[in-house]
Amino acid sequence: MSHIFTRGAMHLHEMVKGEGVYLWSKEGERFIDGSAGPICVNIGHGVKEVADAVHAQMKQVSYVHSSHFITTSVSDCAEKIADFAPDNFNHVYFCSGGSLATEAAAKMARQYYLQVGEPKRSKIIARWQSYHGNTLGALSMSGNIGRRRRYVPMLLDVPHIPPAYCYRCWYGKTCDTCDLECARALDTQIRAEGPEYVAAFIAEPYVGATLGALPAAPGYFQLIREICDEHGVLFISDEVMTGFGRTGKKWGLDHWDTTPDIIATAKGLSGGYLPLGATIASDKVFEGFSEPFAHGHTYGSHPVACAAGVAVLDYMNKHNLVQNSRVIGEYMHKKLDSLKDHPSVGDIRGSGLFSGIEFVKDKETKESYAPEVRFNTLVVDKCFDNGLLVYPGPGTIDGVRGDHIIVAPPLVASKGEVDEIIELLEKSLTEVEKEV
Ligand SMILES: Cc1ncc(COP(=O)(O)O)c(C=O)c1O
Repeated sequence: MSHIFTRGAMHLHEMVKGEGVYLWSKEGERFIDGSAGPICVNIGHGVKEVADAVHAQMKQVSYVHSSHFITTSVSDCAEKIADFAPDNFNHVYFCSGGSLATEAAAKMARQYYLQVGEPKRSKIIARWQSYHGNTLGALSMSGNIGRRRRYVPMLLDVPHIPPAYCYRCWYGKTCDTCDLECARALDTQIRAEGPEYVAAFIAEPYVGATLGALPAAPGYFQLIREICDEHGVLFISDEVMTGFGRTGKKWGLDHWDTTPDIIATAKGLSGGYLPLGATIASDKVFEGFSEPFAHGHTYGSHPVACAAGVAVLDYMNKHNLVQNSRVIGEYMHKKLDSLKDHPSVGDIRGSGLFSGIEFVKDKETKESYAPEVRFNTLVVDKCFDNGLLVYPGPGTIDGVRGDHIIVAPPLVASKGEVDEIIELLEKSLTEVEKEV
């Protein structure tokens, strides 16, 4: 009997080897990792340089407490992140994952307003059908109903506005009639709360886990920026999934030529090698602080995790992985187009090596499969049987109805590997459609 308190499948598959875009199970089966784990293994599996850097740091100094001490790995990692981030983002607060990065962003916004003399500002506004993490603060911001439901009595009061979901517009609009109502909803919500009480708005540039690599409409984030500025509200970009080249640009928000005030990031930063997250403050936010940030964890600024971060960022730069994500990503999206005629494929979206497929039962009406069918799980399980790993997503429409998967291989993927992924996906989809 396993003593692991599992979070997903009751039977866990034991993996024994990882190299590039491939993983091998104990039984000797080979899998192609079409989703980079949960979209985090950006530089691929088994990179020796990362193992060496981690080993070296462990031998030198494995741990110091971040309130009083530092190692070169921590300062180097902060410097490399600041170099990678937009120009005015020079201040990196380290933590050990995405939920901690978004929560730190919310608390950073709150403390900023305390220190600049606007102590009433504490509210964070977020969006329905978003995902910002699973700890109670991050889950309060998340609009993923499926993940929230059981814990609603324990959550904080975070107002949510509609998502920017063009395929199923909450306002019944089409591209031709769209007036970015979903962005304007932020203005309404801020006014309803009272601007003097609102500290920040948080959003993912491409909604990942919950909506399957869904970008907002052109112009959306520019308008969000204007609305935030008008009301003196900080804009937090949750780049936990989209950061570090995943979408073919350095940051997801770069697709809208907009900068936020705070960036929360994790996943690709350490490529899944060790737990590492970061909340990056713009100069404006940092300069508002007259006292240290009153927030911290035992494993914040972890020397070994930061050594992994340094090695991952060096590897990304050396191998031009942002560019590879863009170029191979364009190729992948062209190949994905070949799935459009499948009866269950409703929408294909995303950019770079980040794509989502939303499934429907009826293409005309966009009716989804009944949740009991668990269509996304059927596809993921069939892909697994065929040697392909992809990331599932239930509850796409409203947290209960709807299905999608994310296809997002490591950023080192080649055209040939993308071909293999799409071939296996096409085969799996055809088999599932026959069976359903
Ligand atoms: C956009 C976004 N924010 C936050 C998180 C939470 O990150 P973690 O699972 O590392 O806590 C995730 C995880 O998928 C995410 O996609």
